[in-house]
Amino acid sequence: MDSIAIRGGKELNGRIAVSGAKNACLALMPAALLTEEPLTLTNAPRLADIRTMTELLGSLGAEVAPLSQGRVLAIGAARVSNHTAHYDIVRKMRASILVLGPLLARDGLANVSLPGGCAIGARPVDLHLQGLEALGAELELRDGYVHAKSQGRLRGAKIDLPVPSVGATENILTAATLARGATVLNNAAREPEIVDLARCLRAMGAQIEGEGTSRIEIQGVETLHGATHRVIADRIELGTYMLAPAIAGGEVELVGGDRASVASLVEQLEKADVDVDDTEDGIKVRRRNGRVGALNVVTEPYPGFPTDLQAQLMAMLCTAQGQSVLEERIFENRFMHAPELMRMGARIDVHGGTAKIQGVERLRGAPVMATDLRASVSLILAGLAAEGETLVSRVYHLDRGYESVEEKLGACGADIERVNAGG
Ligand code: UD1
Repeated sequence: MDSIAIRGGKELNGRIAVSGAKNACLALMPAALLTEEPLTLTNAPRLADIRTMTELLGSLGAEVAPLSQGRVLAIGAARVSNHTAHYDIVRKMRASILVLGPLLARDGLANVSLPGGCAIGARPVDLHLQGLEALGAELELRDGYVHAKSQGRLRGAKIDLPVPSVGATENILTAATLARGATVLNNAAREPEIVDLARCLRAMGAQIEGEGTSRIEIQGVETLHGATHRVIADRIELGTYMLAPAIAGGEVELVGGDRASVASLVEQLEKADVDVDDTEDGIKVRRRNGRVGALNVVTEPYPGFPTDLQAQLMAMLCTAQGQSVLEERIFENRFMHAPELMRMGARIDVHGGTAKIQGVERLRGAPVMATDLRASVSLILAGLAAEGETLVSRVYHLDRGYESVEEKLGACGADIERVNAGG
């Protein structure tokens, strides 16, 4: 099993190219099931999660051809030969649930294994199911699977989400494109990944308005057609690498980074004495002084501060001047990185959804263990500035969502390598 070894204390200077957004791509790929014509996605990231979605679509009878070394995905679903997303795949990746809406809309039939819990909490899918029921699907939960069917086409409906769930918004949006009549989705998620999905669906012939706001209106159409769509840049990868020079010092330019997509992070970085400037190709980040300032941050749905950057921000705050407070409001149990950071000398006090972080002068390298995707990268970031060697194990979490971390950070001067721990 691979680990990542980092010898800390090197300033970072250089350029990092931001890849296509994992979470956008994971929602776009199942949209190919909505049409018999090919959907081509460009700027796809090369990640384990994308390979898992490729495998899932393949198991349903779609053909996914990775071109240009995996940066382009040509997906053809002329035929769907199987309507069951099996537990073996779904348990590896929760986003598998995103095939439910498209399968139902296309053929009125879908069986998808329930994802179950994960390291960051219970994460139910009740809102996905309620939304699809409102569109006329008949659902039955049996043997750990959602068995969904509809008599004829789905029907447009007015749906009010109690919380703006990203995944539920995506499943309802894709399902409603082929429903009979109009759907109004209130309290929809406003994340850039939703906007990207809506744009792709529109390029496929869907009638959608209001994406990026809390109210999305979809007028169902008879059929959708093929399209070519460029996946947006990954704002979480961008934010992660913006935090790297804030932690280790130096100046890093993020090529292809979209400042607006990380506005909440920019606001916090500027408060903490970190400069974020626009460049011709993206944005560049530089820490002003020796240590960053302390912050009080609450995670919220977009455009609030993203839960997916909370662990990385915590890594920065471990060496801030003074006490910071991080409140996690999206997921329960999303502070698994805190005890690992404490092994590196961080002073963190977690009570329920709140973490108090007393900044220390310097972290010390230690063997640590990744518990989920964002936690694993937060440990790497912490290792960049820590004294001595940090060995992050269980990096298969990292490979789900970060492309070539060692190369990207290594090119900026970080002393980082992948080692095979042989186990
Ligand atoms: C997506 C992202 C994930 C990110 C999260 C929040 C993907 C593949 N994953 O996950 O990286 O951390 O958004 O920005 O895009 N909830 C329910 N019932 C539901 C659905 C959600 O109670 O049916 C709750 C969740 O437990 C959580 C909150 O709603 O507390 C938000 O979850 P949601 O926005 O659905 O996250 P995901 O789509 O799973």
